[in-house]
Amino acid sequence: MALQDLYSNIHLLIRWLHVIAGITWIGHLYFFNFVNVPLQGALDDAAKKLVNPKLMPRALWWFRWGAMITFLSGLVLFTLLYMYTPGQGFGPSALFTGSDGQLTARAVWILFGMLLGFIMWFNVWMIIWPAQRRLLSGQVPADQVAAVRKKAGLASRVNTFLSGPMLFGMLAPSHYGASNGLTLLVATALGLIAIFWSIKTSFKVGTSV
Ligand code: HEM
Repeated sequence: MALQDLYSNIHLLIRWLHVIAGITWIGHLYFFNFVNVPLQGALDDAAKKLVNPKLMPRALWWFRWGAMITFLSGLVLFTLLYMYTPGQGFGPSALFTGSDGQLTARAVWILFGMLLGFIMWFNVWMIIWPAQRRLLSGQVPADQVAAVRKKAGLASRVNTFLSGPMLFGMLAPSHYGASNGLTLLVATALGLIAIFWSIKTSFKVGTSV
């Protein structure tokens, strides 16, 4: 039946696009934070001058466009699931508000995930990429390079931490029934701990085969 059903087919395609773009985005974010930060600390200036102008523009292209497609496909997915009902049209669906008029547990999870995802998208497009573009094209005066680098690095670190709880917000809606202060708190704590552990570990692992 699903094959004949236009809504189901579009839904699956958008969901697939969303996840493959999300992997591209967050994969590069983790590359920057878990691989590139320790790597840059191990390179001398000459090696940095050789490697970074070739590496960074490529990696940043996949990173920022992955973020954009994840965000836009996420908004379409949200509209399809929570703001549209097949046969009835646009408006809050039964997944968004229950018969009592309250937000459903599923809606609470996805709003939590989308809030974090939106902050992350904002950081990419309004802070990290503008700063990196100016740094890589040599537009930043020498006395401001360290400050601009620090700002971009901080936004990237914030995004890395947010990604842990954010992913609970993406996965819980269709796989976990309950949502309350405690479940959100536990998801946030677990997500942050996983990222904290990964950052600490990134300085110790993979330095030899
Ligand atoms: C940037 C803002 C984002 C928005 C607006 C957004 C929106 C959504 C929506 C509406 C859903 C459907 C939830 C449901 O089934 O009820 C979803 C699911 C999902 N999203 Fe996002 N998302 C965003 C970022 C991300 C990121 C960065 C990732 C990283 C990989 C991601 C991965 C996923 C995954 C894995 C699912 C679940 C797919 C499934 O269970 O079938 N999302 N997202």
